Amino acid sequence: MRLQKYMAHAGLASRRKSEEIILEGRVKVNGQVVASLGTKVEEGDRVEVDGKVLNLDEGFVYYILNKPQGVLSTVRDDRGRKTVLDLLDSPKRIYPVGRLDMDTSGLLLLTNDGALTNALIHPSKEVDKTYKVTVQGSLSREDLSPLEKGISYQGVYYHPGRLGRIQVKRGKTLFQLTIHEGKNHQVKNMCLALGYPIQALHRESFAGLDLKGLGPGDYRPLRPEEVEKLKEYQ
Ligand code: URA
Repeated sequence: MRLQKYMAHAGLASRRKSEEIILEGRVKVNGQVVASLGTKVEEGDRVEVDGKVLNLDEGFVYYILNKPQGVLSTVRDDRGRKTVLDLLDSPKRIYPVGRLDMDTSGLLLLTNDGALTNALIHPSKEVDKTYKVTVQGSLSREDLSPLEKGISYQGVYYHPGRLGRIQVKRGKTLFQLTIHEGKNHQVKNMCLALGYPIQALHRESFAGLDLKGLGPGDYRPLRPEEVEKLKEYQ
């Protein structure tokens, strides 16, 4: 692909403007300044403009959202209820990476990168998701240990999860559970299988990302290094 076309595809500027930028000597290909037209580039070439590496994925956007309870993680709702898209201001049409139930809060990624979305939600990728679970009653690690052994509920089998911190507070038990599947109502059903209906469910982390600095309803674009890390699942 011609260099100016590559630059335009990366969202830098129009092709005409990109030609001017090349002629101004502001572009390097694989470390060499290219100041005349006619150079071609291909996948794997490193193109820099004013010292910044261009990425052909520049048309993609990636956000991390702390979804509050009571908001749907669908793109549209025919009953007019609030969806996660009402919380974000994005120049592109984006959609959530998987789902959280309406009454579940926490980490949800949104993007327009279909290939990455498919990879992240594919069961074979076993992406870790950690939830903070609240159930009624004072439970011990032993009470919860079947969650680490694999469990069936209403004919659906759920693979073993991993228990983290367990705290008992005022008659409730709060515990962390990490799973790597994304079946419908998975954590709720795993707990129901043990006879513990969930009182609150919050996703703390997904694929190594967490919600540090984001209150309920807050979001931010992912940093390039965070996107690169996610792409390791592709
Ligand atoms: N498990 C559930 O039961 N609900 C969610 O929203 C996410 C995981």
